[in-house]
Amino acid sequence: MDSISLRAKAILARQVNHECDCKSDNENYSDDEERSSKYRFVSALSMSGGNGDNSYSTNSLLQKRVLSKIKTVLVENTKEMMTNLDFPKCIKIADLGCSSGPNTFLAISQIVNTINVFCKECNQNQPEIDCCLNDLPSNDFNTTFQFLTSFNKKLTQEGSCFVSGIPGSFYSRLFPRKSLHFVHSNYSIHFLSKVPDGLEKNKMSVYITSSSPLSEYKAYLNQFQRDFTTFLRMRSEEMVSNGRMVLTLIGRNTTDDPLYRDCCHFWTLLSKSLCDLVFEGLVSASKVNTFKMPFYDPTKEEVTDLIRKEGSFQINDLETHGFDLGHSIEDCSLQPHRVKSGQKEASCIRAVTETMLVAHFGDAINIDTLFNKYAFHVSQHATCTVKTTVTLVVSLIRS
Ligand SMILES: C[S@@+](CC[C@H](N)C(=O)[O-])C[C@H]1O[C@@H](n2cnc3c(N)ncnc32)[C@H](O)[C@@H]1O
Repeated sequence: MDSISLRAKAILARQVNHECDCKSDNENYSDDEERSSKYRFVSALSMSGGNGDNSYSTNSLLQKRVLSKIKTVLVENTKEMMTNLDFPKCIKIADLGCSSGPNTFLAISQIVNTINVFCKECNQNQPEIDCCLNDLPSNDFNTTFQFLTSFNKKLTQEGSCFVSGIPGSFYSRLFPRKSLHFVHSNYSIHFLSKVPDGLEKNKMSVYITSSSPLSEYKAYLNQFQRDFTTFLRMRSEEMVSNGRMVLTLIGRNTTDDPLYRDCCHFWTLLSKSLCDLVFEGLVSASKVNTFKMPFYDPTKEEVTDLIRKEGSFQINDLETHGFDLGHSIEDCSLQPHRVKSGQKEASCIRAVTETMLVAHFGDAINIDTLFNKYAFHVSQHATCTVKTTVTLVVSLIRS
């Protein structure tokens, strides 16, 4: 294909996806081509499917706990949405980044039950509810839909509820204009659409660490700004006026140093584990140098600033909660707790990264060995108390 038709194809692809464009077409085209061949593994981004020992479905207790913490936010926003929209006869809900497993139905059942109970309390007819579960096309939707029967049993009131899967990136348009009443997304929008360029100077590290050059932080922040703004713009087109959106994502506490991440940050421990494999001659350093996470942990100020600048949403509330991967273990009283916790934390990170690691390293890496190292590094940080990672919960009203 000649360069003109390639460029035309790239422009067409962006138009179809309605992506945000801050640079010229030529610049975007060459940047994206270079990055997508360098960081090809990003297209494999999806949680480990199925329901085996290493699957996301089995290792998503941390995300489940987060969902239980935000219950009140979901309930309040759902009730306010119903009142402000004067009890519509048909409600369309979307869970973005639903993944494979039961968590998506926890959130959806919370919203559906609130709508039905609230309608009864207010002597209103129960609406028909359209529940759309979105994730990337590579997501294991089959595993998710196996939880549909238990979801139906959890619904407290009789009512019509229709569940469907919507494959596609939430950085593109997914729904018709002005069709959505309520949008929810848990632990998904900290994933970027791509790895930014300009990270070459930081060797042997999959993400920003305290020793990264400042340019690395700027590159990640810039990509997050572009992606989050696109996300808001797409949803602003899809949502009805006075519709609600509740977003929960991993963020960081503000410190004077934008590079600061605590020594036991989950990506720092993954970098350390990969380095161990390099020192043991099991993986090449050059391969590790080109594995970077498509992820950014914003501060609440960065999130607020972008919402204000995009302009379609009013911030109803923004909360910060603690984050503890150690809570991905069910019984913290077990001894030796830290060892068990180390394995659980390793399993949690493995379920999120294995598809990308395998896509990048192929047979060169033994995933079991890598995550045994990870569990060991967790156990070495048993006494760390300073944590910079937090969970951000923001609720928005479509103006
Ligand atoms: C950690 S999981 C969270 C899943 C679920 N919401 C929960 O609470 O357990 C993050 C999900 O976001 C999805 N994701 C990441 N980027 C996405 C994108 N651009 N569009 C749609 N889904 C995306 C991933 O595939 C993954 O399933």
